[in-house]
Amino acid sequence: MSIHTPKIDKKVTLTTISKMKGVEPITMVTAYDALFAKLFDGEVEMILVGDSLNMSFLGKEDTLSATMDQMIYHTQAVCNGAKLPLIVLDMPFGSYTTPELAVANATRAYQETSAQAVKIEGGKSRANIVKALTSNSIAVLGHIGLMPQFLRSDGGYRVRGKEQSDIDELVEDAKALEKAGAFAIVIEGVKVEAAKAITDAVSIPTIGIGAGNVTDGQVLVWSDMFGFFEEFKPKFVKQYMNGAKQIREGLENYRNDVKAKEFPSKEYIY
Ligand code: KIV
Repeated sequence: MSIHTPKIDKKVTLTTISKMKGVEPITMVTAYDALFAKLFDGEVEMILVGDSLNMSFLGKEDTLSATMDQMIYHTQAVCNGAKLPLIVLDMPFGSYTTPELAVANATRAYQETSAQAVKIEGGKSRANIVKALTSNSIAVLGHIGLMPQFLRSDGGYRVRGKEQSDIDELVEDAKALEKAGAFAIVIEGVKVEAAKAITDAVSIPTIGIGAGNVTDGQVLVWSDMFGFFEEFKPKFVKQYMNGAKQIREGLENYRNDVKAKEFPSKEYIY
């Protein structure tokens, strides 16, 4: 049974998020524009301007062709719409291949938007990049487990943490990110046992997506959770409304009205 929780009425900071670990589950959704970010304002602690926008809003096959310019443009829009959540800009594929490139691109993210943090995919092997960012005053949200930017090099989306050796590797990844200064870690597409081991091993919050209810918070892609993205529905997505159906019904009503010349009726004319 779900409980009734109050709206969030204060600006969410990195300190707010750190203090929530083990105390209160953290809520996060994606947003890509001001219209929806405004609706999400005060409803969740964090908003991710995810490179998932490449698939859900630009109709691409994967996230890999998203660019830094696009991420900045969409983050500016989200920042215009939402004032209270902690906003994270997702660094796109290829924008953080070296510490220098990562710092240059994340500096742009900070200078050209009001995002409070950036997200990068990768564990131990990317700890040097996270360190370069955090030591240049840029807050980092890590991302381990199933990493969509590794889709082509991994040969597909792969659920992680099925064997103990992989759980151990994921725990090492999380510890390396914590040591490098990440303020929290997204854990995507892992077995619940792995998510639990990771969450217990670090003192920073973990935000799960397809990782069970053992993490310190949850994130979902908004167009998935509201039923607007119909190409496929991952097993871990709970749909809180059937957006696509409602839009089609609305459009059918509009079409019927226009064809029948019932719209615009008297109340809608000057
Ligand atoms: O791009 C995105 O929306 C993400 C989430 C799936 C965590 O990375």
